[in-house]
Amino acid sequence: MQNHTILITGANGEIGHGLIARLSQQRGVRIVAIDLQPLDPAIQRSCYRSYAGDILDSALLENLSTGHDFDTIYHLAALLSTRSERQPTLAHRVNVDGTLNLLEIAVTQSRQQGRVVKFIYPSSIAVYGLPDIETKVKVGRIKESEWCVPRTMYGINKLYCEQLGNYYSRHYRQLDADTSDGLVDFRGLRFPGLISAATVPSGGTSDYAPEMLHNAAQGKPYPCFAREDTTIPFMAMPDAIAALLLLQEAPRERLSRQIYNVTSFSPSAKEVYDRVVASFPNAKVTFKPDEKRQAILDSWPEDTDDSAARNDWGWKPAYNMERAFTEYLIPAVTARASL
Ligand SMILES: NC(=O)c1ccc[n+]([C@@H]2O[C@H](COP(=O)([O-])OP(=O)(O)OC[C@H]3O[C@@H](n4cnc5c(N)ncnc54)[C@H](O)[C@@H]3O)[C@@H](O)[C@H]2O)c1
Repeated sequence: MQNHTILITGANGEIGHGLIARLSQQRGVRIVAIDLQPLDPAIQRSCYRSYAGDILDSALLENLSTGHDFDTIYHLAALLSTRSERQPTLAHRVNVDGTLNLLEIAVTQSRQQGRVVKFIYPSSIAVYGLPDIETKVKVGRIKESEWCVPRTMYGINKLYCEQLGNYYSRHYRQLDADTSDGLVDFRGLRFPGLISAATVPSGGTSDYAPEMLHNAAQGKPYPCFAREDTTIPFMAMPDAIAALLLLQEAPRERLSRQIYNVTSFSPSAKEVYDRVVASFPNAKVTFKPDEKRQAILDSWPEDTDDSAARNDWGWKPAYNMERAFTEYLIPAVTARASL
């Protein structure tokens, strides 16, 4: 069987952990991973090669590109929303310049191999920006084309990189004598907040839900920075990984767009709390809203319309909220807390 060589950036992160675990079960897959931090040994053993380095380091990227033939790139490396707001210029460099570097690698690889390189990009509900809570409640579920007026550096970076991906797929160097479009097959997902049983998030604005759960499992008090009525969409990590793989595998002709909403369940922070307390009755959660982080949450939609993903490539989450907690999160975080 022919080997597929896949590049994963930001491989040490929450999604990287889940994605490498799943890809390593597939036959004929070679994973090349890069992250700022040396890879967690638990996932490193599933990789063909791993590099500790920066996606802003052009020499390292060139080295990667000459050493391997990638057919797919999962570009996960990024600074998340809260961290990006604290370091906006660094966020712009990593999230935008870093993505540009990886798109250039995809072009080089495509020319080197004479075939299209797939570029899978996790975007976010942070690309949306509702002006106030009244509008958010009134509009409810929103489509990909609506309310793309983000108020965070992270959301702006993500929205721009979606456009960059579109450019590299369809209009790259459009004035050249030989047209260069079609070298990169860019496919993006707008993820909601993700909840993993295996890893604890850091640097995101949806972190209050997983933080509530992980702290409760460990018997630690948790001051929740979101108001009780805060409602944004969430997804269990196995569904996020399934969405990335399904979108990667979808035949190009089935895709009517390049960026897709995907979502699972939209609980309020109070509903997350109630679910956590049902499993951990001694959970010590207090609601201490942080006005500034709350304003960001209030600009994100309550729900997104993912009908295009469902129609085009058969997306359907396996986990609703109840199943996510009873079958995935609670058993795993309980086991993890007792280690
Ligand atoms: N987790 C979520 O809830 C969520 C939601 C929507 C979108 N996303 C997107 O999915 C992707 C992965 O998210 P995650 O949850 O795994 O995030 P994460 O923060 O857990 O992982 C990101 C990884 O990128 C690495 N990284 C950061 N800067 C780098 C650089 N300059 N060079 C190399 N590596 C670098 C970090 O070391 C980290 O391991 C990101 O693009 C994120 O924006 C995540």
